Amino acid sequence: MTHQEIREKFRKFMGSKGHKWVASSSLLPSDPSVLFTTAGMQQFKQYYTDPSSAPAANVASIQKCMRTSDIDEVGDESHLTFFEMLGNFSFNGYWKREATQYAHEFIIKEMGLKIDHVSIFGGEGDIPADEESEKIWREIAPEIVIKKFGRADNFWGPTGNEGPCGPTTEIYVNGIEVWNLVFNQCYKHPDGRLEALESPGVDTGMGLERLAMAVQKKENVFGTDLFEPLIQMLPQDNISKKVHRIIADHARAAAFIISDGVTPSNKDKGYVLRRLIRRIIVQCHLNGIEIEAMNDIFAKIVELYSQYYPELDISKIKSIFAVENEKFQKTFKNGLKELEKMGSVDNASAFKLYESFGLPFDVIQEVGGSKASSLTRNGFEEERKRHQEISRAGVEKKFGGHGMKEGDLTAANKEELWKKTRLHTATHIIVAALERVLGQKLPQAGSDIMAERLRFDFTFPRKVTLEELKKAENIANDIVAKDLPVICEEMDLQVALDSGASAFFKLKYPPRVKVYSIGESGAYFSRELCGGPHVSRTGQVGHITITKEESVSGGNRRIRAVVN
Ligand code: ALA
Repeated sequence: MTHQEIREKFRKFMGSKGHKWVASSSLLPSDPSVLFTTAGMQQFKQYYTDPSSAPAANVASIQKCMRTSDIDEVGDESHLTFFEMLGNFSFNGYWKREATQYAHEFIIKEMGLKIDHVSIFGGEGDIPADEESEKIWREIAPEIVIKKFGRADNFWGPTGNEGPCGPTTEIYVNGIEVWNLVFNQCYKHPDGRLEALESPGVDTGMGLERLAMAVQKKENVFGTDLFEPLIQMLPQDNISKKVHRIIADHARAAAFIISDGVTPSNKDKGYVLRRLIRRIIVQCHLNGIEIEAMNDIFAKIVELYSQYYPELDISKIKSIFAVENEKFQKTFKNGLKELEKMGSVDNASAFKLYESFGLPFDVIQEVGGSKASSLTRNGFEEERKRHQEISRAGVEKKFGGHGMKEGDLTAANKEELWKKTRLHTATHIIVAALERVLGQKLPQAGSDIMAERLRFDFTFPRKVTLEELKKAENIANDIVAKDLPVICEEMDLQVALDSGASAFFKLKYPPRVKVYSIGESGAYFSRELCGGPHVSRTGQVGHITITKEESVSGGNRRIRAVVN
């Protein structure tokens, strides 16, 4: 049975049991307390406390997920960062009996598998054992062995610092857990207090890769049709399975998170992406794999998944990977040489290698071998945090804790101010590029610049198509490539408006204004009223990528973009 058939069977089966099918949500959750979507229930979290807001009482989905806590373990037989989760959910609809029956029927009849045993919550502290689940299993399948465990194993949740949680029952096939059925009967508050939920709910999750492994009778997930086609594309001779697995796992994860809008950086999601990409690059280098081979792997990933995840964007994946590769290629080989020269590597010196040469922790650990045996991920992360605090303290000392302000921008330090200045100029370029593509002036309705991205709103009656966005992006990058001058002039407001300069129609301007023009005098590409600051030549902006276009209130559209 192929993964396509498994997906289809799940969808049909859950449909026949009265579930509404819901598309996977983004890997970037709206819940700010979690970095990535780690489970199917993430997008439904609020429905457990407010079932009336749910689209249906019972829903099912296949959700793309990312779990980064095990990132260093990837390469063994079972750990993955990116995976998919099949799940059915009920918000004050059905309860333990139906959930258990559906799972049993699907595994036995639809998948043709045998259940080794199941586990249930045996009680711990104040929380009583889940006797109801035990009784239900005894009725449904009297022959099945039931094992009982405590809170660490059979009590789930919540995701983030608060939310629904409850006892679980897990189904084991061929020695591995394939399906986790969570009965959300409690709500955990940020202080750890558990409260009974008014309306209990069901949350189940079954890893697609593990299920495919059992159904396709493979020794590990990497033998399934979700990984095999990727691994086959890599050179096989003298390259360990571990390397194949790291590259395949990280390439899938990178492709998916890039397509959801993440770009490499030194923080949060961007830091995870940077680690994934850099580890691929180093593994390719160490094993003599041409870096260009990654383009084919990415194309294969998109081919495998685009039917289910149309957001996968091959050109974005390739270009972000290429930009990071170019940046990293310059330094990491020197870093490897430096590492070679070092006697032993502790967390502090490992962090220095990361800071000066961008070498990721995993690479230092792996290449360092026995001389890096004292390294720990936690110790390394502590160094990183300590360093960030020192540089923050330095900035605060310099700027009295208030940050820097220049023109329309505020920033924590010079680097950030420079990054925001580049994004600021990029905003002007993108607006002008979009105006050319859409053939009209775009009334601007707001702009917000953070160190990692720009965002601006403009009034336009419909969605801007992908093709139009791509065209605008190309024009914008052309302007960057031409390295045009950015000129600032001061003049009377009316003179500025008469000269065709764009303005924010909502703003009240003073009688004397600054006008920033991009391009040669008389043939301006863009001309706007603006407080600055801007770069002095467009080449300083760097490569522009439009990451998102969406609708916001008031008939406005919103664009996000990054510069690299
Ligand atoms: N939310 C549960 C899990 O991720 C089903 O295991």
